[in-house]
Amino acid sequence: MNQRPAILIARAVFPEVVERLREHFEVETNPTDEPFSPAQLVERLQGKAGALTTGSERISAELLAACPQLKVVCNIAVGYNNFDVAALTAARVLATNTPDVLTETTADFGFALLMATARRVTESEHFLRAGQWNRWALDMFAGAEVHGSTLGILGMGRIGQAIARRGAHGFGMKVIYHNRSRLDADKEAACKASYVSKEELFAQADHVVLVLPYTPEAHHTVAAADIARMKPTATLVNIARGGIVDENALVAALREKRIAAAGLDVFEGEPAVNPALLTVPNVVLTPHIASATIPTRMAMAMLAADNLIGFLTQGRALTPLNPEVLTA
Ligand code: 8YV
Repeated sequence: MNQRPAILIARAVFPEVVERLREHFEVETNPTDEPFSPAQLVERLQGKAGALTTGSERISAELLAACPQLKVVCNIAVGYNNFDVAALTAARVLATNTPDVLTETTADFGFALLMATARRVTESEHFLRAGQWNRWALDMFAGAEVHGSTLGILGMGRIGQAIARRGAHGFGMKVIYHNRSRLDADKEAACKASYVSKEELFAQADHVVLVLPYTPEAHHTVAAADIARMKPTATLVNIARGGIVDENALVAALREKRIAAAGLDVFEGEPAVNPALLTVPNVVLTPHIASATIPTRMAMAMLAADNLIGFLTQGRALTPLNPEVLTA
């Protein structure tokens, strides 16, 4: 009789990761990579002790009640707003995420989006592709300055600090930040960042970057009033979660040129995108790819697999979100 635990890999991952998991478990995969509906996910999880998930799988109290054999869920993401952590802990199911391995890659992309937004990279490319470029002009796609400008970071965790370092040391930017708690002096010094209120951040920054975790309190925390404080030349970049920004307020500000431009990698309700956003030219839109390099996505999936293996074979995990389950 087969004694190996069964696990589900909810979305397609690299073959190396599947092989690694097959060394320990009976593995069910999702070869079509079509995200499961909540009901399908419950069905697939029957008899499974563990799951590798992504942001598309919601692990709720209802799901946990319907999957009593589940012991561990390992998200291939640092963000875990798809997990009800309190319900997981109550059900004694371990949850893990993938911090650190994506920090620098995600910060690179945050900076890429900032640059593309400020310097109107995609807007000008669309113009060229449409055959509209017939002469040079002094003010053609003239954008906002990046070097030497003021970078405002909302959410100063690992990724926020990595973006701050790029701005301060690479582009000579003045860095200001707002966070739930102020950083230690040595961390502030490492990224030459000064703590300001949220109001000051929006009013003073030339480029605002959002990198905060999406919690219920963070829902629409960037509201019309915050956008109204921004300079007309300023830009807003979101690489956190779409629900952090009131997208309709943002669209109105972009349309009315109350801010210069925005760069969005994340959307409320993604993969659906607010149709109004598609109609404004001064916004750069990318499909949630901030951590998407092959080495980083491999490292994320392997870390999730190592958490799953560690917990189901030895009761240990590298990056637990509810470590109290380990000691229970
Ligand atoms: C993930 C992300 O790729 O890590 C995160 O929180 O947003 C991305 O890096 C995405 O969430 C899929 O799980």
